[in-house]
Amino acid sequence: MDIITVKDKSFKPYISEEELQTSVEKVASKINDDYKDSAPIFLGILNGSFMFFGDLLKSIDLECTVSFVKLASYEGTNSTGEVNQLIGLNEDISGKDIILVEDIVDTGNTLVKLHEILSKKNAKSIKIATLLYKPAAYKKDHPIDYVGLEIPNAFVLGYGLDYDGLGRNLSSIYVLND
Ligand code: IMP
Repeated sequence: MDIITVKDKSFKPYISEEELQTSVEKVASKINDDYKDSAPIFLGILNGSFMFFGDLLKSIDLECTVSFVKLASYEGTNSTGEVNQLIGLNEDISGKDIILVEDIVDTGNTLVKLHEILSKKNAKSIKIATLLYKPAAYKKDHPIDYVGLEIPNAFVLGYGLDYDGLGRNLSSIYVLND
């Protein structure tokens, strides 16, 4: 793998496909153990989770359903001027075990907002699975239940993660080369 240029920035190889697959299988195997007696709903957070979600679900051997949601924010009238809305959740999740699937947890803002919205819908449990986690950037207390890989506070690209909309289709992960 070589250095690549995406738009105006250069990125170098960081996490190989093999390493990603090992991490994905590690997360899947923990979830398989923890949900033996449940039929959880896997909720993929779009857009970034699509590759992780696909690979993860191939290694899940539970009875389960899958769905995708997106967190959209628009200008509103609350104190921060921003209102968050969850798009795409059409089913009733009350009494269900939910596993939120994220590409990366950085500051944790997205995760906390999602949790806030979903916890009003009477799910039996809500847990978080993320491929990547940046502990140095994380500013919340909320536990992150399943983590594929911890990474330093650097900007990464590929395997679903984008730079200005580009690079999501790369099959491995690159890091900003500065
Ligand atoms: P958070 O709300 O700060 O935890 O960030 C959540 C979202 O920011 C992720 O779902 C990603 O879409 C995006 N993000 C955070 N770090 C990176 C990165 O290093 N590369 C690409 N996207 C990122």
